[in-house]
Amino acid sequence: MARKKPIVIVTRKLPDVIETRMMELFDTRLNDDDHPMTREELVEAVKAADILVPTLTDRIDKGILAQAGENLRLIANFGTGVDHIDLAAARERGITVTNTPGVLTEDTADMTLALILDVIRRVSEGARLIRSGEWSGWSPTHMLGHRLWGKRLGIVGMGRIGSAVARRAKGFGLSIHYHNRRQLPEYVEQELDATYWESLDQMLARMDIISVNCPHTPATFHLLSARRLKLLKKTAVIVNTSRGEVIDEQALTRMLRGGEIAGAGLDVFEHEPAVNPKLLNLGNVVLLPHMGSATIEGRVDMGEKVLINIKTFVDGHKPPDRVIDTLL
Ligand code: DGY
Repeated sequence: MARKKPIVIVTRKLPDVIETRMMELFDTRLNDDDHPMTREELVEAVKAADILVPTLTDRIDKGILAQAGENLRLIANFGTGVDHIDLAAARERGITVTNTPGVLTEDTADMTLALILDVIRRVSEGARLIRSGEWSGWSPTHMLGHRLWGKRLGIVGMGRIGSAVARRAKGFGLSIHYHNRRQLPEYVEQELDATYWESLDQMLARMDIISVNCPHTPATFHLLSARRLKLLKKTAVIVNTSRGEVIDEQALTRMLRGGEIAGAGLDVFEHEPAVNPKLLNLGNVVLLPHMGSATIEGRVDMGEKVLINIKTFVDGHKPPDRVIDTLL
């Protein structure tokens, strides 16, 4: 007799090819209208599912997990960041958590460079001026930005994405500096021409551009605190394509308004989808709606990873992208 297919509940709309394959393989419940699930809907989902496929818009906290049915055994997150899932609570209940690392690296690094270029060369500001109809023509002193070539870039978090940012940045003539929990092997540092700073404080004080590329964990919450932001040069620019929570957004906003930091490129925010209204009118700030990894190819690759993690788990093996052991 055929084995019963596991119930897989997917909380948001995924690419069609992924949803179709998921329907073929499992007893899958989709979210056709793509609405972010309410807390009540999430509770219903964890009660009914054998496997939950959430995204970063679902807060899977201790309270939700406490109501999960005995049958919930796997949370196969569609995304790399897992700061919206209480990993310790999942582990206590014997629930495996997987994510989708590696397939977003290049897209997120591209967006990081796009933000750096945009802020330093005032690309969005120029585009806004054209559309306003108020451009009165070229002048030698109009819309001056800064030369990227030769500036110092400090990367906070030199994992896959940080390293991909470094490779690109080197091509733009930036000198690469980084702070990381662990120093990279010498051959990687040589390849990237990268200088390691054990002290984040010391690195921050010397850089022209800071790029935040570390994950949000309890240890990195407000890593760029008000105190640390004050260490930055007045001419420095900060770019974040990781998680809003890594920077104290209130302090950053205050400093941008007061001219204590020259500019910022932010793809992520502390209380998404809310954005501090005081950021909205600042000319020296480029704001994007968390789209660092938003490519069609990337989303399909993420879905493939989710499928592989679920299928491996269902077949009785250890899924390749287990996070629970690496992040706790
Ligand atoms: C992730 O996978 O964590 C990304 O932030 C999604 O864009």
